[in-house]
Amino acid sequence: MKLWGGRFSKETDALVNELNASIGFDQRLYREDIEGSIVHAEMLGDRGIISRADAGAVIEGLKGILADVEAGKVEFTPDNEDIHMNVEALLTARVGDAGKRLHTARSRNDQVALDFRLYVRREIGTVVGQLLDLEKVLCRRAREYQTAVMPGYTHLQRAQPISFAQHLLAYGAMFRRDVTRLEDCRKRLNECPLGSGALAGTTYPIDRFQTAAGLGFDGPCGNSLDGVSDRDYALELLGALSILMMHLSRFAEEVILWCSWEFKFVELDDAYATGSSIMPQKKNPDVAELVRGKTGRVYGDLMGLLTVMKGLPLAYNKDMQEDKEPVFDALDTVTMCLPVFADMIGTMTVLPENMRKAAGRGFINATDCADYLTKKGMPFRDAYTATGRLVADCAARGKTLEELSLEELRSVSDLFGEDVYEALKLENCMALRKSFGGPAIAETTRQIHEIEAFIQARSE
Ligand code: ARG
Repeated sequence: MKLWGGRFSKETDALVNELNASIGFDQRLYREDIEGSIVHAEMLGDRGIISRADAGAVIEGLKGILADVEAGKVEFTPDNEDIHMNVEALLTARVGDAGKRLHTARSRNDQVALDFRLYVRREIGTVVGQLLDLEKVLCRRAREYQTAVMPGYTHLQRAQPISFAQHLLAYGAMFRRDVTRLEDCRKRLNECPLGSGALAGTTYPIDRFQTAAGLGFDGPCGNSLDGVSDRDYALELLGALSILMMHLSRFAEEVILWCSWEFKFVELDDAYATGSSIMPQKKNPDVAELVRGKTGRVYGDLMGLLTVMKGLPLAYNKDMQEDKEPVFDALDTVTMCLPVFADMIGTMTVLPENMRKAAGRGFINATDCADYLTKKGMPFRDAYTATGRLVADCAARGKTLEELSLEELRSVSDLFGEDVYEALKLENCMALRKSFGGPAIAETTRQIHEIEAFIQARSE
């Protein structure tokens, strides 16, 4: 008979059982479920709602179940529907009547809300740790390539000279925001729903502040209906993970481009590339492509849960059992992608000569040429037009700006002097972009230091 079988006179239909059961996936919450029950039992004992002896028996029983689950000795059963009823049934089998008292002043609705919050809180820590590891790799690689000139792009057209370090550190900035987004989510979720009961609290003299503190929350949720029906934290997590994957997919896309013969800015380590079953020459960036592809999957998880939650009346509805799989799937995906991606970046061979060669074509010092004239007194808009004429002339004749003679340069302005050749050197164009946040070495060094301090602040 079901735990809730009291008012029923028939067995549940077998297919309904299958539809209804969530143990297949929510068994992942076993640790959180047991942890929450231990704190609940302690409180019940302290408040005299159950005897201290019963509370003690329950806690010992739960600890034993936890140890057995971790040792792989426990088989959960769909007959008990979900992780909450499975644990309760196991407990009662072990400690008898004391076990049957555990569910006093509690409901599965506040129980699942609690377990899921605890799980999300813990997993945020895992993702943040992996992001910080990726940041370390980016800092290390950026340090190696602070003077490596590469073309920066807009519209995927060569635009202005930057360093490879500057490019990597742009991703460093994105992943820092991902960390703080996850930390924000963790801050906001840190209110305890336990004690919300089924929806309307309870008549027992429970102490919600005790259980909240015991589970590391800042305090209890202030409204019992909201306590059991809020899944914002799961949505915020999925939102943060979606943005994180969007960042990874942009990085992945660039790695894919960089690996192509058209670019050849990097070569992936053999351990992070794959071959073709027919084309012997192929070395494919499957890791980057899969990360790009899996981004769609995480977006799907977000859209799925948003859609489940849409229009649900208060308070708990069984629809909400559909909250777990998208969150598990997104976390599995992100935590699989992040370390592999970090290693792929950490081990790839960077080819700065090819970057430099690409930088040499495409007139990426044209802005510097216009700036040269501007600094000599010409209004920028005129300098822009004059340089545009030079570029058109060079493009027609297959030349670069720095290949023009002083005579040729002076055909558009007599402000040009010998010093223009220094001003057009790509190394100088990059190194002189010292404005805050620019690619000059002092600025990439500052960015690296900032990321390192960011990591340090989180490892204390
Ligand atoms: N397995 C359920 C879930 O994941 C737990 C809560 C069930 N509550 C209920 N009243 N049926 O949402």
